[in-house]
Amino acid sequence: MEKYQEKMFKNNELQGKTILVTGGGTGLGKSMAHYYLELGANVIIASRKKEVIDEAVAELKKSTGKSNIVGYECDVRDYLNVEKVIEQGIETFGEINGLVNNAAGNFVSPTERLSNKAFDVITDIVLKGSYNCSLALGKYWIEKKIKGTVLNIVTTYSWTGSGYVVPSACAKAGVLALTRSLASEWAKYGIRTNAIAPGPFPTQGAFSRLFPENLAKLIDPLKRIPLKRFGDHQELTNLAAYLMSDFSAYINGEVITIDAGEWIYNAGEFNSFDNIPSAMWDEVEKHVRGKK
Ligand code: HXC
Ligand code: NAP
Repeated sequence: MEKYQEKMFKNNELQGKTILVTGGGTGLGKSMAHYYLELGANVIIASRKKEVIDEAVAELKKSTGKSNIVGYECDVRDYLNVEKVIEQGIETFGEINGLVNNAAGNFVSPTERLSNKAFDVITDIVLKGSYNCSLALGKYWIEKKIKGTVLNIVTTYSWTGSGYVVPSACAKAGVLALTRSLASEWAKYGIRTNAIAPGPFPTQGAFSRLFPENLAKLIDPLKRIPLKRFGDHQELTNLAAYLMSDFSAYINGEVITIDAGEWIYNAGEFNSFDNIPSAMWDEVEKHVRGKK
């Protein structure tokens, strides 16, 4: 096992926290929920598909041996539904003091092929879902004087934008703005807001919609990553645990990229010179020096 696959924190480091993870029944959300539970937090997972949530709760209870997790059917686009989940969570655990805005929708498509409804569905899940949960919990935290923590899951194209995932890029850019804006405005209440921008981490949800099998011959996502590997869920959950914990008390309004250097690698003008064989560099140098 590599070091980055190991669990970073001592047991019970998140005891006393109750964390709502949206979209916590699958993929990265489920991995974060798993580690939070292992670290002693109470966990609430919520998403649209009740059977997926119920199955995940049973699986997480079994794999951690802990029972302090509940799952609720919730569409984060519906503010009243979000408020109901928060009420139920508070009833179960006494309070909620952490939120991971992880729920998302996405798929690759040329923009001109999208219907307006397809654009709406992605931006509503990602941006409206994130502000609905942040607003509902923020109001409750401010009223109850709870120093809550928000962790938003964005992407590296939140800054750069990206073709073929335009609704997602617009929405994630909005979530990035939400992160920095609330970090400034709600710091006075002791509420911290940060984000993680992951590169590719294998999950069924993302990879089936973004790197479909029939594109594999044309596009190899590994080629874009200078470390030539995908992310391991534990390295992301270690970061998510740190940002949710009080060890990161002085970090606010920050977005931490965890992508093996993928996005700067592909932005750097000359990084494709990696493809030049080392034996060729003597010849290249001769030509370059010759220009003096
Ligand atoms: C064009 C599409 C489409 C596609 C759906 N639509 N898929 N249009 N190409 N591939 C259109 C539909 O035709 C419809 O418009 C509208 O979108 C809504 O589709 P529905 O299927 O009715 O919506 P719904 O059942 O709510 O499903 C939502 C979804 C789906 C977003 C389309 O993919 C989903 O449930 N996703 C959740 C999980 C997910 O996406 N995970 C990936 C996250 S990865 P019309 O007009 O026809 O009615 C990520 C970042 C990864 O976010 C970055 C990696 C580096
Ligand atoms: P995933 O497994 O598909 O997770 C998305 C989750 O969102 C699902 O559990 C889904 O559950 C939930 N969801 C979708 N619409 C919802 C709604 N309206 N209300 C409530 N929940 C909803 O994909 P993932 O890869 O783990 O993605 C998790 C997060 O990481 C996302 O924010 C994604 O943008 C981000 N990310 C992932 C990668 C990657 O490489 N995997 C890279 C960068 C960023 P239901 O279908 O049951 O609702």
